[in-house]
Amino acid sequence: MSGQQADNTSGYDEYALAAEFYDETVPYRQRQDVAFYVEAARESGGPVLEIGCGTGRVLIPTAQAGIEIVGLDLSPRMLARCQEKLSREPADVQARAQLIQADMRDFDLGRRFRLVTTPFRPFQHLISVEEQMCCLATIRRHLVDGGRLVLDLFNPDLGRLVDEKYRSEREDEEPFTMPDGRRVVRRNRIASLDLHNQVQDVELIYYVIHPDGREERLVHAFPFRYLFRFEAEHLLARSGFQVEDVYADFDRSPYGSKYPGELIFIARKA
Ligand SMILES: C[S@@+](CC[C@H](N)C(=O)[O-])C[C@H]1O[C@@H](n2cnc3c(N)ncnc32)[C@H](O)[C@@H]1O
Repeated sequence: MSGQQADNTSGYDEYALAAEFYDETVPYRQRQDVAFYVEAARESGGPVLEIGCGTGRVLIPTAQAGIEIVGLDLSPRMLARCQEKLSREPADVQARAQLIQADMRDFDLGRRFRLVTTPFRPFQHLISVEEQMCCLATIRRHLVDGGRLVLDLFNPDLGRLVDEKYRSEREDEEPFTMPDGRRVVRRNRIASLDLHNQVQDVELIYYVIHPDGREERLVHAFPFRYLFRFEAEHLLARSGFQVEDVYADFDRSPYGSKYPGELIFIARKA
């Protein structure tokens, strides 16, 4: 890794389990957001800071497109996967990408960016308003004047929030096979829901069948905070951002044109 900020990180790696399966997981492989982020990076001219860059699903195509990008993530295992993939890229692509282990709530990279992105909802790992505001203040400090933030959230589906069927394990994803031959079926459930604090306890459950027939059940459990449209707008305004656009999808269709859709903010440093 070309840079590390380990001072404000604890030893626990919440994404340790997910890191191994992430790039093979079908909904992640098929997520239709990469072109949107590469285009936003191009429009900004770079440099770009990606918060929660994970295994480089967005970071590597951005560097391949000729834009300088710094990827920041808390998980050493996700970053190790990203680094390993980057090392297979040509030298010029590697030179445009830098990885940093740090907590999005508080970091200081000593430089500023034209664009900060949060692809695939890392911000929703922040549970309290204090954490959200610390993160937005930190992001703002890392933006040049007039620089932009893309805040990528899911739009809460009211029917889904109250439907009890999501408390049980659901198998609504295509199974996949790992390069070493293990077959993986992933199920998911909302183990519990705190409607007052807008927090879901999510479980992603990996059923792994080894080539010798042995089976494992591995659980990636984490709390996830959902935000509503105007709540997020107020939070951004309170944190010194001016919302320019709100999209329902990565094709830039306006918020409200589909339900539930995504909740994607383009916000300029005010
Ligand atoms: C769903 S993954 C998204 C990865 C990548 N952006 C993508 O689009 O594929 C969320 C990422 O956020 C990271 N993350 C969670 N909490 C974090 C924190 N407090 N600071 C930095 N990264 C964090 C996780 O380690 C994980 O890699």
